[in-house]
Amino acid sequence: MVGCGRIAKRHSELLGNSIVEGAMLVSVCDLDGAKAQNIGEKFEVPYFIDMHEMMRSNEIDVVVVLTESGNHAEHVIELSQYGVHIVVEKPMALSLQDADKMIEACATAGIKLFVVKQNRFNVPVVKARQALESGRFGKLFLGTVRVRWCRPQAYYDQDSWRGTWAHDGGVLTNQASHHIDLLEWMMGDVESVFAKSLTAMVDIEAEDTAVVTLKFRSGALGVIEATTAVRPMDLEGSLSLLGETGSVEIGGFAVNELKHWNFVSSEAGDDKVLTEYSVNPPNVYGFGHQASYEHVVDCLKTETKILVDGAQGRKSLELINAIYDSIESGKEVYLDESLGLSRLGLSH
Ligand SMILES: NC(=O)c1ccc[n+]([C@@H]2O[C@H](COP(=O)([O-])OP(=O)(O)OC[C@H]3O[C@@H](n4cnc5c(N)ncnc54)[C@H](O)[C@@H]3O)[C@@H](O)[C@H]2O)c1
Repeated sequence: MVGCGRIAKRHSELLGNSIVEGAMLVSVCDLDGAKAQNIGEKFEVPYFIDMHEMMRSNEIDVVVVLTESGNHAEHVIELSQYGVHIVVEKPMALSLQDADKMIEACATAGIKLFVVKQNRFNVPVVKARQALESGRFGKLFLGTVRVRWCRPQAYYDQDSWRGTWAHDGGVLTNQASHHIDLLEWMMGDVESVFAKSLTAMVDIEAEDTAVVTLKFRSGALGVIEATTAVRPMDLEGSLSLLGETGSVEIGGFAVNELKHWNFVSSEAGDDKVLTEYSVNPPNVYGFGHQASYEHVVDCLKTETKILVDGAQGRKSLELINAIYDSIESGKEVYLDESLGLSRLGLSH
């Protein structure tokens, strides 16, 4: 593991406690020696302050990049030289140029690149995806995601990179990137977006609130409502899919609870879906990290197709940058004509 900050807790608990079959934690690294030591000692693995030293001193099959979003590209590109597969936390990068360089570096090194989008593995999401793949919705005409979370000033103040254009972005890039990915994964490619944003409740460079309308290539419409300005606590993280012959809503605070499961033609087991396919995770990260690591092991052992590889990670980044183009220009933006106005990944 490179990076032993907040999300490293989740990764290290899964890998360090051998919860993922076929995977184990072998060493960790953080520029902040105390953070590396903390996780290293807890799981009794060597710890380092220099990732190159870590890569040279241990037998590693997969390196996991858990550094600040704005540093993912540099770290993935540098690590690709070691010829081991890479898992990188979302968002894979902030600019499309960086994402392209990462994809190219991994292809040149002959290694696989996995982007963590753990919500795709949420139990109700998997169930909805199966219904979609078997055609139960008919033609989808409207998809909506809502992220209504609470991130107070203290959250942004804990690290200088949070909420900055150079290293993080706002609610769209950080928290809602999962939901935006889900929406596009379910509804298909996006043709155009129109968006407005606001920094309502905190002092950060980027937005804490945004609304987006989308037109998909299929002709369907979509809505994104994303905010971290809800007080005093998280309200919801949800996805709804409406089609000619079916409608599903997944809600809860982390896309974890099936709220509605309605189809024109019912199938055996439909009456039990609402109770059997809802889960109650302890936090907004959900349970998906375990399933995403199981998928990584599976892909490396059996050549299963990677669900979120570099190309898929790039796709939601392209959409997010188009949304920022629309916010900056005040215009509807077509995905095939980038305006280059997004400040994501720029230091000024
Ligand atoms: N999938 C999810 O639900 C989820 C949740 C939280 C965070 N994340 C993502 O995980 C990433 C990290 O977020 P976080 O909240 O853990 O951040 P954090 O600031 O708590 O941790 C990042 C760590 O990386 C370390 N680091 C930076 N450069 C390094 C280097 N060259 N070598 C070694 N260590 C280095 C920093 O010292 C810091 O400790 C972000 O991209 C974020 O978007 C994903």
